Amino acid sequence: MGYQVYVRSFADSDGDGWGDLAGVRARLDHLAWLGVDVVWLSPFYPSPLRDGGYDVADYLDVDPRLGSPAELDALIAQAHALGLRVLLDLVPNHSSSDHRWFVAARGDRDSPYRDFYVWRDPAPDGGPPNNWPAHFGGPAWTFDDASGQYWLHLFLPHQPDLNWESPAVAAAFDDILERWLARGVDGFRIDVAHALVKHPDLPDLPLAERPAGGGGDGDGGGGDADGDGDADGDGRAEVTGGIGVGVERAFERYAHIHDADQPGVTEIYRRWRAIAERHDALLLGEVYLLEPERLARYVAPQDGLHLAFWFAPLHLTWSPEAVRATLREGLEEVGPWLSWPLASHDRPRGVTAFGGGSLGAARALCLATLVCGLPGMPMLYQGEELALADADLPAEALQDPIASRGEPERARDPARTPIPWEPGPGWGFTDAEQPWLPFGDRRPEDTVAVQRADPDSWLHRYRALIAVRKALSELTGPEPWPVWFDAADPVVAYRRGQVVVAAHCGEQPATLALDGRARTVRFASRRAREGEQVTDALPLDPGEAVVLAP
Ligand code: NOJ
Repeated sequence: MGYQVYVRSFADSDGDGWGDLAGVRARLDHLAWLGVDVVWLSPFYPSPLRDGGYDVADYLDVDPRLGSPAELDALIAQAHALGLRVLLDLVPNHSSSDHRWFVAARGDRDSPYRDFYVWRDPAPDGGPPNNWPAHFGGPAWTFDDASGQYWLHLFLPHQPDLNWESPAVAAAFDDILERWLARGVDGFRIDVAHALVKHPDLPDLPLAERPAGGGGDGDGGGGDADGDGDADGDGRAEVTGGIGVGVERAFERYAHIHDADQPGVTEIYRRWRAIAERHDALLLGEVYLLEPERLARYVAPQDGLHLAFWFAPLHLTWSPEAVRATLREGLEEVGPWLSWPLASHDRPRGVTAFGGGSLGAARALCLATLVCGLPGMPMLYQGEELALADADLPAEALQDPIASRGEPERARDPARTPIPWEPGPGWGFTDAEQPWLPFGDRRPEDTVAVQRADPDSWLHRYRALIAVRKALSELTGPEPWPVWFDAADPVVAYRRGQVVVAAHCGEQPATLALDGRARTVRFASRRAREGEQVTDALPLDPGEAVVLAP
């Protein structure tokens, strides 16, 4: 079971309003209690924070606002003592423009670091070298007056793309991996893992055949009316992902056939896999491709990534058909090497995405139940275990570049607000008067403390679900492979061996038909149902989820 910690919003140990590594360490017991095995820490490196820390100014250091390398050592040691493995967030597609490599590269055309980045002369008309758009809007090229060349950036101008054609870049990252692994980290979540390599000729991108969206990192909106990546309205996002929010839509007018998912990219992971194996480390790729057959090539069992995220469930419009098809498609095309994000810092939280309120919360737990029984690694995003909705934030509080670049209503900040640990000023997150991002409209019943005291809370349901996943050996490995129930049913269900996992994703009460074997409800989204005996039929209400075992 994985868990994403968005460090700046998890827990503040020193009262400055920023979550920090010591704060994470002090709260690791929450994760161990919840049943988490793998903790992914979002970037904590020195950064000018143009893009929430995904603009790294030093890959081997810790932002002093968040701690120090020694504090990270202490966190890792304590995590290991609690049986938790720690993944760092590696950002190899781009650095910050404040990174010393880029400063040197920009300052001198003859610098040995010039070739660490992608520079090109202007087009004959003086404009950018090609038509590539950047995520977050605008062209993917910015002109450097001093050297008379453009630099490439698939994201912000402050996030120059590294040149993975350069052996020196590859060697620098080998060293970064080795150094963190020697320090005791257990692996990496790899940012934008599909886009490190670009077509060597940097050709223009053609327009997408139909206005659906595609390619990139973050989320696949674009083309359809509501921006969920579902152009044909069947509830499933059929596009290739980009963060899929707002300004990304311009990005998604193009077919991203030259700026992402190039043949050479998997060579990088082949080499990293050899490094990882020497340290028994895990490589988990943010491969933002919503076409599963493209994703599959990144997770070659022997020499690819160990796991790749399958993001399509975060893009679906809720219906039993869409839930079933999205889960099956990823699993059947890619195999058991998937990680299943249940939310992230880039997307609306599950509760909000799936309808809001108790309906959205029930649906989010339905999805969690379904993925918790499948091969692969579910990844909870902090606060999902509390069924937090996106926070309501005033426009002036927004920090996401998507807001400052023109679409505040699509900013990712509402999913990034601090965790409410307990009722009261600072919500147990901070002693500061103001956290770095407001809490929004949290209530006492959203807090860890209140939910821990209530056995019927969302928190206890998530914990019970994780415990059942661990207790049933059928659910922990790749075998037995899931056998899905009737595709026409509003109850999405599958069987692994004799264990049945089911979630009612429809609108009207329904009955799940079973094979007459005696089974017990081992997990239920309604706690009172646990222990119920079931043989040939199980009535379920919309939003109910269960795990049954003999
Ligand atoms: C994916 C990260 O999750 C997102 O937050 C970031 O904006 C982009 N990659 C760029 O690094």
